[in-house]
Amino acid sequence: KGKSKIIYVCENCGYEDGQWWGICRECRLAGTMKQFIERDVGSAGKVSGMGVSENAVRSWLPQKVGDAQPLKLKDVNQKMDQLNWRIPLPGLFGSEVARVLGGGLVPGSLILVGGDPGVGKSTLLLQIAAIIAEGQDIGKQTPVVYVSGEESIEQIVNRADRIRIGVEEIFLYSSTDIEDILGKIQPLFPRALIIDSIQTVYIQGVTGSAGGLSQVKECTSALLRFAKKTKIPVLLIGHVTKSGDIAGPRVLEHIVDVVLYLEGEKHSTHRLLRPVKNRFGSTDELGVFEMSQSGLQAVSNPSEIFLSEQYLGSEILVGLAVAVIMDGSRSFLLEIQALCATGSSVSRHVNGVQASRADMIISVLKKQAGLMLQENSIFLNVVSGVTLTETAGDLAIAAAICSSFLEFPIPNNVAFIGEIGLGGELRTVPRMEKRVNTVAKLGYKMCIVPKSAEKYLSTVGFEGLKVIGCSNLRQVIDTVF
Ligand code: TYD
Ligand code: MG
Repeated sequence: KGKSKIIYVCENCGYEDGQWWGICRECRLAGTMKQFIERDVGSAGKVSGMGVSENAVRSWLPQKVGDAQPLKLKDVNQKMDQLNWRIPLPGLFGSEVARVLGGGLVPGSLILVGGDPGVGKSTLLLQIAAIIAEGQDIGKQTPVVYVSGEESIEQIVNRADRIRIGVEEIFLYSSTDIEDILGKIQPLFPRALIIDSIQTVYIQGVTGSAGGLSQVKECTSALLRFAKKTKIPVLLIGHVTKSGDIAGPRVLEHIVDVVLYLEGEKHSTHRLLRPVKNRFGSTDELGVFEMSQSGLQAVSNPSEIFLSEQYLGSEILVGLAVAVIMDGSRSFLLEIQALCATGSSVSRHVNGVQASRADMIISVLKKQAGLMLQENSIFLNVVSGVTLTETAGDLAIAAAICSSFLEFPIPNNVAFIGEIGLGGELRTVPRMEKRVNTVAKLGYKMCIVPKSAEKYLSTVGFEGLKVIGCSNLRQVIDTVF
């Protein structure tokens, strides 16, 4: 019997410690450290301790450690094509998902899709199941199993009807017992397995109820072994909840190969699929979808989705400026709104921008550009609830504040790119050309950039777009206002 030791895992961030702490030393939340018994994985990967019922799970364990042999690099290289092979996901929707995954679905991978309840995880995975089952790449339909412990078969069929899935080879199964699930699906040899959700499944013999930390961790480990052994990719849904008694998928992030988050705002139909961990690709990618009447649709030109209707309309308002940000390999336009208001009390409200960054930009505007902002309450907002983390947006923030303060509207065909230094100077940011290109493609007439980038950009040339270089904030104000 393998040795086991007691560790404490933070339910919120997954931080592990050998000692219990009242406050997580990583994320600083109180009362989130939960006791967890870690099995000795050294003993040939044998499941023991915690009384895990071994019969079904054992068959998915790797072979004994002694069975594997060191391989010659050259031999491995020859197998590389085979190793790099991925299950392709064709179509507009499929390629958007495939791009986020790093080019397709890796056989034997374990993928966790997290997201708030109701954001569209079940819809997303049912659509992915349909694409894989359709088997366009191999010219025939192949089974994919969708297991739900969340919903009845009827509910899944209703959803499939709604998104018009007519693939014959999708198998639905309603179960929460991992041993039962793996045992039942094995004879089908599916091309992929989907589990909706990790919080509803359990392994007999492990303490705790389904959704509890130890169940969630044990089930995920069993699925990982299953995926590696059978080469069947497993896609797991995980709810992100704030309540203490359900283990958040964050705890699982270091077990699985890929973690994707499906995100969306309450009042928006847009959904973002973001990799936060990917053993097979970059985490810089971003998938953009729209939830429609018939499921998720890929948004192929996402540049404008973060702009408000006022901005895109004909009326020109004060206090609006457009930044160009990069997310993964793609650039987006982001609208910054500012309001400077004089009143009895002076305060500051910042939404979607780091408070310290906003403070710095406001101070620089006062000190280096001579704006008399002292008497003003300043409100800053980034449209669509996106959080601006790039310094490339500094200039647009400053421009929006200037526009409101000077009550001078910025024409809605002007975009701003640049980082602001403490001396009020403009600094260039990575991937200028790509950003400016997006601005040009969307029919903008003018783009304000740091002086240092102007020369290079003028050699590239952008049709219909005037690229103006400024070395500091004063010059920007002179040019635009
Ligand atoms: P769902 O996939 O059930 O979310 P999750 O599994 O993350 O809890 O979908 C949630 C919402 O999406 C639901 O409120 C209805 C909406 N929806 C559509 O707008 N169009 C559709 O085609 C489908 C299937 C769902
Ligand atoms: Mg669901």
